[in-house]
Amino acid sequence: QSTIFSLIQPTGNIHLGNYLGAIRSWKELSESDSPGSKFIFGIADLHAITLPKDPQTLKRFRHEAIASLLASGLSPEKCTIFHQSAVPEHTELSWYFTCITSMGNLNRMTQWKSKAQQVQNSSIYDDRVMEATKAGVLCYPILQAADILIYRATHVPVGDDQSQHLELTRGIANTFNHTYKTKFFPIVKTLLTPSKKILSLRNPSKKMSKSDPDQNSCIYVTDSPEIVAKKIRKATTDSIQGPIYYAPEERPGVSNLINVISGLTGKSIDEVVADLHWVKDHKQFKDHVTELIVEEFRENREMYQRLTADISYLDEVCARGRDNAREIASANIAQVRKLIGMD
Ligand code: TYM
Repeated sequence: QSTIFSLIQPTGNIHLGNYLGAIRSWKELSESDSPGSKFIFGIADLHAITLPKDPQTLKRFRHEAIASLLASGLSPEKCTIFHQSAVPEHTELSWYFTCITSMGNLNRMTQWKSKAQQVQNSSIYDDRVMEATKAGVLCYPILQAADILIYRATHVPVGDDQSQHLELTRGIANTFNHTYKTKFFPIVKTLLTPSKKILSLRNPSKKMSKSDPDQNSCIYVTDSPEIVAKKIRKATTDSIQGPIYYAPEERPGVSNLINVISGLTGKSIDEVVADLHWVKDHKQFKDHVTELIVEEFRENREMYQRLTADISYLDEVCARGRDNAREIASANIAQVRKLIGMD
């Protein structure tokens, strides 16, 4: 029996990268015919505060993130939808894992290195960065392992930027099982989403990210058609004339937009490029991308507006999700306590 689990941070609205890299596959998995499988998806609000947040903003982001999940088509009837912080068993398990995880393993995480640099505004990674960076940024992947393993999840659908964290999760499960002579924790499988990593529209050498100060770099699932058109118009491409072709090194901007089309349509890169034979210039190409995005998100936007106007429904969905999640988490943490002699 499988348990499919994943979380997303509430650092602002859900963007095209999150949607293609994660949410769409969460939705497809939960809609597939898989009797007996459990689907648990939610908001990693505890992870979000590793970079400081104003309390009112965090509160708003937490609600908006749930509304975005529902507006993206995730059904609370099929999935448990909840806030990580509402299930304290995550943090308890995280502490047990912290005590069996080496600093060396954490230090190797590439996301830690780049976040530590971001926090310090530094282009180098050295002892000074280490000195000033908060421990939460370093321990972040331990909490992620606890999120997954508190449900003894078997499959985690994520974009490929999360692969290294899932590798660490497998390592932690192995270490725990070995240390306490048990097979309690499964060795989780990464379900890599078929979509390629979606890059910033303005600077296609980095990934599309909510925390990017240039908001034209990022398309949100709730952007109006006019905003989508504006952002795509401003997207960095190149001055190569003639037919559109895929070459991530030579044409990163154009190739990123091809990846977007491929993610949205489910077609392979080759098929997408073949379909673009009628395109004469970048304007036509960009208009086509805009149309596809606007069409995909038409209903999302309307639903999002309805949902954020009535917080009580969101609260009700979260409360139901929390109760479901806690039922599993509390039974599992009781077993863990027994295994380590804390009962
Ligand atoms: P987060 O919030 O950064 O991203 C959520 C999901 O979206 C995917 N993603 C992308 N995919 C393609 N292109 C992009 N530009 C892009 N940006 C983000 C991510 O791969 C991810 O699947 N640490 C996690 C949250 C987390 C978690 C967990 C995930 C906490 N606990 C347990 C899985 C299991 C994170 O920061 O994701």
